Amino acid sequence: MPLNTEPAPTGTTAPATGVVHLRRGGVSVVLDLTAGRLPVVAYWGGDLGHLGIDSLAALVRAGIPAVVPNDLDVPELVEVLPGASGGWRGQPGIEGHTEGADWTLRFTAESATVDSIDDTAVALTATAIDPAAGIRTVLRLELLPSGLFRHRATVTRVAGAEYVLDSLQLALPVPRRASELLDLAGRWGHERTPQRLPFAVGTHLRDSRRGRTGTDAALILAAGTPGFGFNAGEVWALHVGWSGNHREYAERLSNGTQVLGGGELLLPGEVRLAAGDSYDSPWVYASWGRGLDQVAERFHDYLRSRPGHPSSPRPVVLNTWEAVYFDHDLGRLTELAEAAAEVGAERFVLDDGWFRHRRDDSAGLGDWYVDETVWPDGLDPLIDRVTGLGLQFGLWVEPEMINPDSDLARAHPEWMLAPAGRLPVASRQQQVLDLGHPEAFAHILQRLDEILTRNRIGYLKWDHNRDLVEAGHSPTGAAGVHEQTLAVYRLLDELRERHPGVEIESCSSGGGRADLGILERTDRIWASDVIDPLERQQIQRWTGQLVPPELVGSHVGSPTAHTTGRSHALSFRAGTALFGHFGIEWDISRATQAERAELADWVSLYKELRGLLHTGRVVRADHADASALLHGVVGETDALFAFVQLTTPLTAISGPVVLPGLEPAGTYRVAAQYPGDRPNCRSTTTLPWLGDGGVTLPGSVLAESGLQMPALHPEQLLLLRVTRVG
Ligand code: DGJ
Repeated sequence: MPLNTEPAPTGTTAPATGVVHLRRGGVSVVLDLTAGRLPVVAYWGGDLGHLGIDSLAALVRAGIPAVVPNDLDVPELVEVLPGASGGWRGQPGIEGHTEGADWTLRFTAESATVDSIDDTAVALTATAIDPAAGIRTVLRLELLPSGLFRHRATVTRVAGAEYVLDSLQLALPVPRRASELLDLAGRWGHERTPQRLPFAVGTHLRDSRRGRTGTDAALILAAGTPGFGFNAGEVWALHVGWSGNHREYAERLSNGTQVLGGGELLLPGEVRLAAGDSYDSPWVYASWGRGLDQVAERFHDYLRSRPGHPSSPRPVVLNTWEAVYFDHDLGRLTELAEAAAEVGAERFVLDDGWFRHRRDDSAGLGDWYVDETVWPDGLDPLIDRVTGLGLQFGLWVEPEMINPDSDLARAHPEWMLAPAGRLPVASRQQQVLDLGHPEAFAHILQRLDEILTRNRIGYLKWDHNRDLVEAGHSPTGAAGVHEQTLAVYRLLDELRERHPGVEIESCSSGGGRADLGILERTDRIWASDVIDPLERQQIQRWTGQLVPPELVGSHVGSPTAHTTGRSHALSFRAGTALFGHFGIEWDISRATQAERAELADWVSLYKELRGLLHTGRVVRADHADASALLHGVVGETDALFAFVQLTTPLTAISGPVVLPGLEPAGTYRVAAQYPGDRPNCRSTTTLPWLGDGGVTLPGSVLAESGLQMPALHPEQLLLLRVTRVG
């Protein structure tokens, strides 16, 4: 499938007035500048086609709500940063004050420019000022090639005493027909659980105060037409691209106006703007689509268009964590590396436990020197063996953390984020290193730089295993999450510049840091500490609402999952891991020959299919029976689907299952796909079309009429390979 890429810089920039119509990728955003204040979002949704000036003016006029009795004498309009001076009584766009003054702002437009490509507007920059308060804001609104919209604001204290910015939230209107909400909830080991609720009057608020994105983060907050699904209904969805505290909200006012909004969640006093200072908000992303799959596709296309998007085939990983935990031993790890090479792995990642004092998870974080008691000759013997086997070597780090039981904490207790005079409650027996402290930042940068310079390391698994609570910056103990988030971005950016070939994975107690802010500077996310494939079916399905498969780490675990105690056939474990960045996290040096041979077949299948799986379009079927699901990846000429039996169905068979996303006019051959020559599921029935070795049908029939599926035992899956033959 051709990917959308950023436009060549052949566009034009020109002053903008009146009504601006951004159009791209099947989406329109109409911005009304006529009031001479902040832009008002008159429309966000499906492409409206070319509209002349008169039609745009009429569109704006037709959308102005009635002024009703016993209310304000002006209509309540949705400015990008809605405020009380415009009559807005919902969540405010900006909150702040100067010693109690300047708490309400009235902006006057100063200038606006529009970027166009081929005479079509695609971005707007608008500047407005409240001269009395001494606050200027610059808004940047962009419609990206995939139709993904994003906007951000910069607020500048132009002159005057210190202005304390308490909150900045950007809003977008959604129409009344979007009457249902969906977002994700979760916890450690159970990330990305969808929840649905009515879009009622009031505010549905998703605040994350964990100092990281959060294993319970909303990921996306979507509003849609009744019953919207993967391929049904209209959906408007929001994501805040930020890895610290953040907010997403859906709000319906009593007059019927409804918005989706979001931004960074600032702690008291975190942003104080002296004259000349500015605050940059994170990008707030917004994806409209017909069905959740189209919403996801816009995010995926955007991520794939980034210049730094991984372009090499995603290597098969062997991660040592669940294989050996802290039991680091050169002989044992060498055996594991050899077994990894034998099954076809391409990257070997040494997880937690290699550095000083780290014999368990109670000590050592901060002491980033190879532990001489375990590795008397350093990591060289292992790295030499791993690279000699043809695998790349990767290393686990958790740079933002510090154990009170570490040389670093003993030398610099003031480098731990804490309110003045006491430590916050511990979590996993660790505290957080204050990266806002210049010496702490310089120290950790130097340690990481040295490790990467000294060793042949191609990959860092960058972990972050606790929430930031009471994260005070020394010596005053002032709230420090905002600064910490910026500092970790700076740290990553600096290391990437110094070591451009090194890939970085974002891990945070599993999937606790998955957002478009961290993905600007990392190459994949670890979706969850749970490798149990049954849990992973849901976690990966919903992580995929934002992140494409090639950026989602997905491993084959041990026969019995360490985190849930469930046991699964290798076919279910590997068939689940196939739909991500495939890896192994199992002590295969102790697996049977038969298991290793089967795993090698799965590795070969992944290598054969990764070109398709990592560039194709992700599709998910709206399957009525919750005991099973179907998902797949569709490329230009072929596709791979998985029919997954999660639990025992009420009815004996699941009925015909549709394969979405294929060209309706194309003709396709559908057949079971097994690794090597092994059937990957046990079926209690036989199916004529499967027994015949496959079936050939038009895409329209596959999408509308579908295919019968075998009656699988629970926790099994069937892979289907679809090839275009006409
Ligand atoms: C949490 C991660 O998610 C695991 O994969 C592992 O790296 C551990 N941390 C190590 O402490």
